[in-house]
Formats: sequence, structure tokens, C-alpha cells
Amino acid sequence: MKLGVNIDHIASLRELRKSREPEPVIAAGICELAGADGIVVHLREDRRHIKDRDLSILTETVKTRLNLEMSINKEIVDIARKVAPDQATLVPERRQELTTEGGLDVVSLKSKIKEVVKKLHGEDILVSLFIEPDRKQIDASKDVGAEFIELHTGAYANSKDEKELLDNLAIIKDAASHAHKIGLGVNAGHGLDYKNVIAICKIPQLNELNIGYSIICRAVIVGLDKAVREMKRLIDLHSL
Ligand code: PXP
Repeated sequence: MKLGVNIDHIASLRELRKSREPEPVIAAGICELAGADGIVVHLREDRRHIKDRDLSILTETVKTRLNLEMSINKEIVDIARKVAPDQATLVPERRQELTTEGGLDVVSLKSKIKEVVKKLHGEDILVSLFIEPDRKQIDASKDVGAEFIELHTGAYANSKDEKELLDNLAIIKDAASHAHKIGLGVNAGHGLDYKNVIAICKIPQLNELNIGYSIICRAVIVGLDKAVREMKRLIDLHSL
């Protein structure tokens, strides 16, 4: 199973101070050296975290695979065609949301999405569609010509109790099996963490998991001890 690491929140941290650090490109290199199979960024229409500059540098520096999450907005599609990441994952986007809510409605937006998929294919960009684990959305994704789907694991991750978790897991398993059967590559992501990822890893048809928030949260916690020690040592060394 491959791991794509979403580094949007490295940029979110930078934007909290409108500062120059942390640099997403440095984070991407660290993720790759640590074993990530791909780097994921979302160039949102409001540019709240990842900026055009980040995307442009990442397209030149990422050595594994750059997966650009993006809406089907014309301006963003034009940028994607210009920078040509290895892969584009089409997602729904609403200005007010904290993170991507719900999957793309491929059934309702079929002709528009088909057009975008064709444009991206014209630049040799592989296309994945971020959808709910629903057979109708999966069939529509195949119809519009996408190579991959990414199953939204948000409902699974937010399950209130064990029963709901198992029900949502069964829905994801069924969706993965159906999508694989009709020839789609199957990825999954959203809300996966160090606990709920275990059952997802056991789904044989899955190709890649895209994970962001929980990894960045863990990085802050496991890195804090070292960061404080380094600062304390520096202060001790240079204090009069
Ligand atoms: N996959 C997609 C399509 C997403 O939009 C996101 C969130 O940016 C993720 C995966 C990663 O979700 P999380 O940050 O909750 O791990």
C-alpha cells in the first residue's frame, strides 16, 4: 500500500504568521526521505495555505509523485495544465469549509468533469476523483475516463461508535471491490489517523492512502522535545 502525504498544513502554519516558514518544499523532501510514495497538495481557490509559488517549486523538486488536489474551476484547471503535476485529484470545494467536505458529485457534474479529465489527460496528467464510497459515483467516474478514484473515508473516520465504524468500513470495502472490478485504481483518504488506518490497510484493492492532518499533528508532538532542547542549548551556549 502506498502513502501519499498531504503537506497543506505545513503551509497553513506558515500562513498563520504570513511568514516564510515552514517551507512546504522542505517538508516534502523530508516526507520523501522518510518513505512517502507521493506528495499531495491542494491549491485552493482562496489560496489559504498552498500558494502558486509552492506548487511551482514542488513540481520541480518532488522526486516521487506530485498529486495536486484541485477543484474544477477554470482558473485552477488552467494552472494544473501549465504546471503538469504527475496526478490531479478533483475535489469539491466550498469557500467556508475547514477541509474538503463530502465527495465530488460526478453523477450530476458528469459532462463538466469529463471535459476537465480530457484537458488534464492532454497534458499527460493522471486523474483521480475524490468521491463518496457509492457505486453510482464510482460508475460515473469510470464513464468520465478517470484512472483512479479516491474513496472519501471521512464518514468512517468520524464514526460515533464501533457499530457505525464497522458499517462504514463495510461500505468502503464494497466500494473498493466494485471500483477495482470495473478497472479503476482505488485510493482512499480523509481523516485517517494512527488508529483507524489499520483496518483500511487490510482492504486488498486499495492502492494508496492519502493522509495529512494526523501526520502533521504527530510531527508537532514528536518533534517538540527536540525543538525545545535545541533552543535551550543555544540559549545556554550564548548567554552571558
Ligand atoms: N484526500 C483528499 C482528497 C483531501 O481533500 C484531504 C484533505 O486535504 C485528504 C485526503 C487528507 O485528509 P486528512 O488531512 O484528514 O488526512
